[in-house]
Amino acid sequence: MQTKQATPSRHVVVVGTQWGDEGKGKLVDWLTETATGVVRFQGGHNAGHTLVINGKKTALHLIPSGIMRPGVKCYIGNGVVLAAGKLLEEIAGLEAADVEVRSRLRISEGCPLILPFHAALDVAREVAKEKSGAAKIGTTGRGIGPTYEDKVARRAVRVQDLKHPERFTKKLTELVAYYNGQLAALNAVQIDWTQAAWLKDQTLSAFMVDGQIQLDAVLNQALQHAQALAPMIGDVSRELNEAHVAGANLLFEGAQGTLLDIDHGTYPFVTSSNCVAGNAAAGAGVGPHFLQYILGITKAYCTRVGGGPFPTELDWEVEGTPGWHMATVGAEKGTTTGRSRRCGWFDAALLKRSAQVNGLTGLCITKLDVLDGLAELKLCVGYELDGERIDLLPLGADEIERCQPIYETLPGWSETTVGATTMAQLPPNAVAYLRRIEAVTGVPIHMVSTSPDRDHTILLKHPYHA
Ligand code: GDP
Ligand code: IMO
Ligand code: MG
Repeated sequence: MQTKQATPSRHVVVVGTQWGDEGKGKLVDWLTETATGVVRFQGGHNAGHTLVINGKKTALHLIPSGIMRPGVKCYIGNGVVLAAGKLLEEIAGLEAADVEVRSRLRISEGCPLILPFHAALDVAREVAKEKSGAAKIGTTGRGIGPTYEDKVARRAVRVQDLKHPERFTKKLTELVAYYNGQLAALNAVQIDWTQAAWLKDQTLSAFMVDGQIQLDAVLNQALQHAQALAPMIGDVSRELNEAHVAGANLLFEGAQGTLLDIDHGTYPFVTSSNCVAGNAAAGAGVGPHFLQYILGITKAYCTRVGGGPFPTELDWEVEGTPGWHMATVGAEKGTTTGRSRRCGWFDAALLKRSAQVNGLTGLCITKLDVLDGLAELKLCVGYELDGERIDLLPLGADEIERCQPIYETLPGWSETTVGATTMAQLPPNAVAYLRRIEAVTGVPIHMVSTSPDRDHTILLKHPYHA
């Protein structure tokens, strides 16, 4: 483990404060100038984190966003659900770009494995909802929900089972029988797996015959993956604790966002893990005292992919409107599924909920540049809910659905903020917008991002410098 400072360890958690895609990857990569190890602690390859370094774009799904900085260690903690094939594909892609991965990546033995039947059930459920007219969650179709269900039900196959082929085969056989029952009940025989275009993953059909999962195909592939992964598997909890003692600066990289958290999000339109900062400890195997600074990555407006309530959503498909401006200038297309992200005004009442459940130390406001050129900006400071005025996002989708946003209007700016690296380079109205966000949410802004590029970042207070 490389240590860049002789001073004691300091650790930072990076979380998304909205519905994901806030720009976590860019900031995690930026912080690896100081961080010596980056740890994923929840989620799986539903995440899509985009890094732009010297104009070159890299999209990461499972590998921590520290991989582009030579020498930085990357850890996949026990809280992550792991699709081995997807991980190996991602490694191969990075290696093709001359990025050394295998010697720097450690994978926890405790990760539950995502296998093809998890994705099949995820897709089959969404198809069934669509057919019955029920509201779809709009999942990424990656099998995240079913895998976390297996974990909680104590039937998951975990990375450590790969080290014991007999044990693995026995557990897998039981699971495939269970999943085939579920798929039959959903009439999965009618699904054309190659037509699930939003999956951007045509590999499922190789494991399916007449809507049923083929055990041998899954088993053979998993055993091959086991060999490739073996040198990277380890006791991540132990390694992180040792790194701490050795003076490492760790960065815990959240995936998804606070409003997608299974407990604190817009339930049931959420993902199946805890995305909040507190889970960084449980999902990596370290104590809560490791979580010394919590950085909330926050888009200067709001976006959401998939279904579920979104109080400040705009008509983002109508050309010439502010929502359309955000969608087009902000290039708001999902990194994982390519779906359009819904767009809307900044919601400070939502952010207060996020600040509360994460214990945010500071904010990093991203994509400020996307607002350049809008004549005026609206900022949601609370809602009318059933005739009452409230200033904090309520819990759960039903209540949120009934919230009518209350807005303040602020003047926009016509100057460009793209690439600004100091506050002095920002137009006064942009500074006023940021100050108003701080005042309403009660959380100080410590960083501002002004383009996708690693270097286009304004630093006000460094998370690693207390
Ligand atoms: P993540 O999931 O939170 O890591 O975010 P994504 O990578 O999915 O989405 C954020 C998108 O915005 C990516 O395409 C980034 O390259 C881009 N981005 C990040 N910060 C900025 C910024 O300050 N300005 C602009 N224009 N784009 C940004
Ligand atoms: P990053 O880390 C945005 C959304 C899906 C869907 C819901 C449940 O890039 O911010 P799932 O497949 O997790 O069961 O889907 O969660 N979702 C994300 N939205 N960014 C993400 O990750 C997301 N990961 C999941 O669109 O609404
Ligand atoms: Mg993303």
